[in-house]
Amino acid sequence: MTTYHLPRRPRRLRQNPAIRQLTAETRLAPADFILPLFVADGITERREIASMPGVYQHTTDTLKAICHEALEEGIRCVDLFGVPLDEDKDATGSVAWDPEGILNRNVRALREEFGEDLLIMADTCLDEFTDHGHCGVVGVDKYGNQVVDNDATLDLYRDMALAQAAAGAHIVSPSGMMDGQIGVIREGLDAEGYQDVAIMAYSAKYASKFFGPFRDAVGSSLKGDRRTYQQDPANVRESLLETELDIEEGADFVMVKPALPYLDVLSRVADMSPVPVAAYQVSGEYAMMVAAGQNGWIDFEATMMESLTSIKRAGADQILTYYAIEGARALKELHG
Ligand code: PBG
Repeated sequence: MTTYHLPRRPRRLRQNPAIRQLTAETRLAPADFILPLFVADGITERREIASMPGVYQHTTDTLKAICHEALEEGIRCVDLFGVPLDEDKDATGSVAWDPEGILNRNVRALREEFGEDLLIMADTCLDEFTDHGHCGVVGVDKYGNQVVDNDATLDLYRDMALAQAAAGAHIVSPSGMMDGQIGVIREGLDAEGYQDVAIMAYSAKYASKFFGPFRDAVGSSLKGDRRTYQQDPANVRESLLETELDIEEGADFVMVKPALPYLDVLSRVADMSPVPVAAYQVSGEYAMMVAAGQNGWIDFEATMMESLTSIKRAGADQILTYYAIEGARALKELHG
């Protein structure tokens, strides 16, 4: 057997776990993760979401409990979505800015419970609260077509963000993809003295079928799609424009969503953004890996960690993931 003299042997740096860890370019940490959570009105026990095994609609009590768990694992931020009663939905989604609405009263409960230890982020979008399920108000254009009315929606987003800030949200996160939403919300917050409330802008958000299980999670009333306001999966340039506009309008963070099918977008946004870039590993990404794992087709935990590593490698500073707590525990096992 010949042993060749090879001046470069890249395998040298792969030969054992110690040298692999020593040379890892990308390291995940619990503080990278943001945990999205659902809180539902009218339930007395937490309810598992059928298409997202291991993820629940929470009561206020179980919400507080899971936030304590997250904090113990080193997670510093949760992102809260409210699921109202069907009978409370209306054409404008008015429960969204009702201080006693499902989302605002739970933001308040969490802020009272955790103070500054755990950052409370609230989803700032109307789709959970409207009876038609769209992210904005539906109007009629000059030609008689039904459209989601951009400018009429902006005032409602501002009111919703103000209600969330009043309830104690540290971060509001406009996810509705209306043009100008960041500027109007920033102005509204500043005018009311909420200069310290940050905005995480869903800047590059695609009209994605990977959101499927989320619609289950929030009991969405949507018929149709969001293609007139969310981005076309074929495009990347408009993500750069959207990001630029959001930063100009005052976004403190920008976000790319979904994550894994859009790593190229994430990488381009990360290259140009002067503010932190978050990525959202969405419901469909989670559900696919859980389902394949349950079938014994992939190793769920390992695949999940590989996926999260790839998202960070592509340029994410923060990752929204339903796997945040389990991921933090897996990291503890890996790194001690
Ligand atoms: C809109 C919103 C959606 C998600 C987060 N915010 C759904 C949508 O735009 O249709 C999806 C999150 C996920 O799929 O995990 N409020």
